[in-house]
Amino acid sequence: MAQRKETIVLFPFMAQGHIIPFLALALHLEKTNKYTITFVNTPLNLRKLKSSLPQNSSINLLEIPFDSIDHNLPPCTENTDSVPYHLVSKLIEATLSFKPLFKKLVNDLIDEQNGYKPLCIITDMFFGWCKEIAQEYGIFHAIFIGGGGFGFACYYSLWVNLPHRNTDSDEFVLPDFPEASTIHATQLADYLRVADGSDSFSAILQKVLPQWMNADGILVNTVEELDKIGLMYFKRKFGRPVWPIGPVLLSTENRGGAGKEYGISTELCKKWLDTKRYSSVLYVSFGSQNTIATSQMMQLAMALEASGKNFIWVVRPPIGFDINSEFKANEWLPRGFEERIKCSGQGLVVHKWAPQVEILSHRSVSVFLSHCGWNSVLEALSHGVPIIGWPLAAEQFYNSKLLEEEIGVCVEVARGKSSEVLKKDIAAKIELLMNETEKGTDLRNKANEVKVIIKNAVRNETNFKGSSVKAMDQFLNAALIMRQMEKGASKDEV
Ligand SMILES: *[C@@H]1O[C@H](CO)[C@@H](O)[C@H](O)[C@H]1NC(C)=O
Ligand SMILES: *[C@@H]1O[C@H](CO)[C@@H](O)[C@H](O)[C@H]1NC(C)=O
Ligand SMILES: *[C@@H]1O[C@H](CO)[C@@H](O)[C@H](O)[C@H]1NC(C)=O
Repeated sequence: MAQRKETIVLFPFMAQGHIIPFLALALHLEKTNKYTITFVNTPLNLRKLKSSLPQNSSINLLEIPFDSIDHNLPPCTENTDSVPYHLVSKLIEATLSFKPLFKKLVNDLIDEQNGYKPLCIITDMFFGWCKEIAQEYGIFHAIFIGGGGFGFACYYSLWVNLPHRNTDSDEFVLPDFPEASTIHATQLADYLRVADGSDSFSAILQKVLPQWMNADGILVNTVEELDKIGLMYFKRKFGRPVWPIGPVLLSTENRGGAGKEYGISTELCKKWLDTKRYSSVLYVSFGSQNTIATSQMMQLAMALEASGKNFIWVVRPPIGFDINSEFKANEWLPRGFEERIKCSGQGLVVHKWAPQVEILSHRSVSVFLSHCGWNSVLEALSHGVPIIGWPLAAEQFYNSKLLEEEIGVCVEVARGKSSEVLKKDIAAKIELLMNETEKGTDLRNKANEVKVIIKNAVRNETNFKGSSVKAMDQFLNAALIMRQMEKGASKDEV
């Protein structure tokens, strides 16, 4: 008889930035052929996910009932991408009502399997409360951070301590994380800068974040060799195992999972890149959820053109406009910009989405101007591409800081969506990295070293296991040990 497959339950918060790394983890675990994966979320998110799962996937989708109206949210809003930012805290708050629903879900799952419990429950950083339910059933519980260790260590410490409220200075140190060195007020996202402990964001985050304390361990989508300080913070803070298992990324064929429609075909994109010299193209993208101000967009366009460097730029409507609406080049870009760079062959302006991994892995691409979202960071570093950082939100500021100050593969060009950015400063940074300057050469070399580090971290061979493979094995072993102890305990009861 075939051995019973263990079940692993995954439950991310309802935001693309959380669902995507969880989906990547689900597919990664499924590939080992040892586990049955159950992916929990609200109805609309699951519907979207279902249409984009790979054909051969056997991931079970289990629904947590949710009606946004019950939580004073607009109708049919189940994902941060469909609520205005000031309501995101409300969406997090609403998830506290999942407790009895999740308990029922776990209970039904166990009944369905004739009393056989899942091996473990992996939940979002906002769902630390799941521990209570896991514990009640004697199931192993881990938190999965889809982002980086350093970035989320800073994010965690900032929200829990609000250190910027205790100083008049623009620069301060994190009280429980001095290793991160100085943070500047410009590195705080808008909602964090004004947070004082009584606003809706700090109220909910100070409630849910400390609940990590009770988890059996924390999985981080990072590579140990690159992110030691951040991982150390969580080990020290919680006294729990922390397992760096990254990079866990969606493969190219599973990109559809993000519901993306490319603004250009992969073939055309590759064809264009094929015509360019080795290491001569700048790739510019601010990710799926972010955009910049109109004035910043203008300056960036002028800088790109003036630099004379080849580029691919993924454009989205600027701040103040629906990010999914039609792009109005004649309003948001310099007059005639698109036609000029098309005629000269200097650049490719892509609307909405570009096949990012194919671009970053192409030999013609040399540098990535990025918002430093963790997924983009991992994809760039996996291909040895150095970064010009322009962090815009959340923990991106600390990702950029890690890349520049600790790893040495990044130069920051700007911060935030409202700062004044000048064409000449952007052009200078582009030249610094793309010309044969000492700094540019250093960064490119370093990025190539990092690429090798990442490659080694995920090596899984009979006589060599990389750090990320070892961490994944340790995590799964820890869950199995708990299962065996539970079995022992229930025998004693009989
Ligand atoms: C599904 O197919 C893809 C591509 O052929 C393969 O890489 C993956 O391992 C398969 N997954 C499963 C669960 O069989
Ligand atoms: C970079 O190279 C271009 C020519 O390709 C040159 O015009 C520019 O001055 C150089 N910039 C720096 C910072 O070296
Ligand atoms: C590593 O490879 C072994 C043998 O193929 C497999 O059983 C295990 O699941 C793999 N581990 C990871 C983390 O992929």
